[in-house]
Amino acid sequence: MSADLVIRGARVVLPQGTARADLAISAGRIAGIGAGERVPDALEVLDASGLVVLPGAIDTHTHHRDPGYTHKEDITTATRAAAAGGVTTSVGMPNVDPPTNTVERYRAVIERYSRGSLVDFNHNPAPTVPHEIPGLAAAGALGFKVYMIEDSKRSYPHIPGVGVHDHGRLLEVAEAVAATGRPLMVHPHDQELITTIEQRFWERGETAHLAYARAYASYDSLVWDGPAAWLIRLQEATGVRLHLLHVKTSRTAALVRAAKARGQQVTGELNPVAVFLCNDWSNIERLGPYALSTWVRDEYTEDLWRALRDGTIDVIGTDHAPHLREEKEVGWTDMWRAPGGVPQIQDYLALFLDAVAHGRLSLERLVELVAGGPARVFGLAPRKGAITVGADADLAIVDLSSECTIEEADVQSKCGWTPFAGRRVRGAVVHTLVRGEFVYRDRVVVGRPGHGRLVTPAGDGARA
Ligand code: DOR
Repeated sequence: MSADLVIRGARVVLPQGTARADLAISAGRIAGIGAGERVPDALEVLDASGLVVLPGAIDTHTHHRDPGYTHKEDITTATRAAAAGGVTTSVGMPNVDPPTNTVERYRAVIERYSRGSLVDFNHNPAPTVPHEIPGLAAAGALGFKVYMIEDSKRSYPHIPGVGVHDHGRLLEVAEAVAATGRPLMVHPHDQELITTIEQRFWERGETAHLAYARAYASYDSLVWDGPAAWLIRLQEATGVRLHLLHVKTSRTAALVRAAKARGQQVTGELNPVAVFLCNDWSNIERLGPYALSTWVRDEYTEDLWRALRDGTIDVIGTDHAPHLREEKEVGWTDMWRAPGGVPQIQDYLALFLDAVAHGRLSLERLVELVAGGPARVFGLAPRKGAITVGADADLAIVDLSSECTIEEADVQSKCGWTPFAGRRVRGAVVHTLVRGEFVYRDRVVVGRPGHGRLVTPAGDGARA
């Protein structure tokens, strides 16, 4: 039998370790893994000598902005950026218009992905309408996303319909999500505390980007660490599978580590900016609104790398959050009016490959954080997240020795900028394949909108 595609000559990151192996792909799946003659002939052969094949990254935290905010990004532009970044599954967030918190809206948004996405997809709705939660899980949602943050002076990104910070309502949400067995992703934030803190800054006339950075980091990040501790206690009380987002401080990492040691169902997500951008005050000064949402102390950085290495963090989620330059500019004088968030999906794998080159973590551990972990937490294994026979042929083929500069000219996101422009990185994505089809080839996006398919939790039967 001949395969559709054989990838020859590469090293492959397999569940048992990294080895020289050839891969055969048939009908979109991995049909064989072996050396030389053990892999059949194929219609097409890709010579990948000198390259390394990874399972495609699964980003469970992408802001596609579609529908409602498509002037910033849309499903097609976001998934072009995903393809260029080695991401083969991208999961959207509910802060769109209308906010995704009902089954009807969820189905409508999935329709849009089916037409527009280059890569496989799903979308995590907000569990803010409790009676909709069982139906959303039955319809195929991988998990639920709730924000504890509410915007004070701006109207986006923390819109009504996706946020809950009242502890009583959060209890109800956690109980209802627990009954579905799906993870509850929470953006931890103490709204009452920040309201008091920000008033003090405003009374002193301090509103610029540097003031905003200091306000959020006040009291050594109490605004994030406090709710993280409470959420972990809520997990214990309700049994919900808590997926704690935006882990970015030493204390939050220690809380997650301790909860895991007690056997609690807590998983952690770290965003690339926590170790590559917002942990460096000089970036906040230089890039201002283009670096913020938040600033975290450089003293946390080593603890965050340790948390990435030791299993405290399960998932690197990009929190790809594109906004237009015109929307960011006001942040130089009033950051409370500028939307927080930066694009990350296209650059993060290269940044982390560079970290691998510098010995910060192993390649195998990185693969676990960008592919295996997300697949495990969101129920996509064994179909996604690892290179095994029978799995979808979702692959990121990378060159670990390629040294290049991240350039704004290469940005696929509609927002047209990246906070990482000018950075030298060692490691680059060369090809990306989704179910055996190239969506990025020789560093050019070649995928077509409509190739992406809905991926639902394993065992659901909803996935064709
Ligand atoms: O900085 C952020 N940006 N934080 C969020 O919670 C949302 C995101 C966005 O949508 O822009």
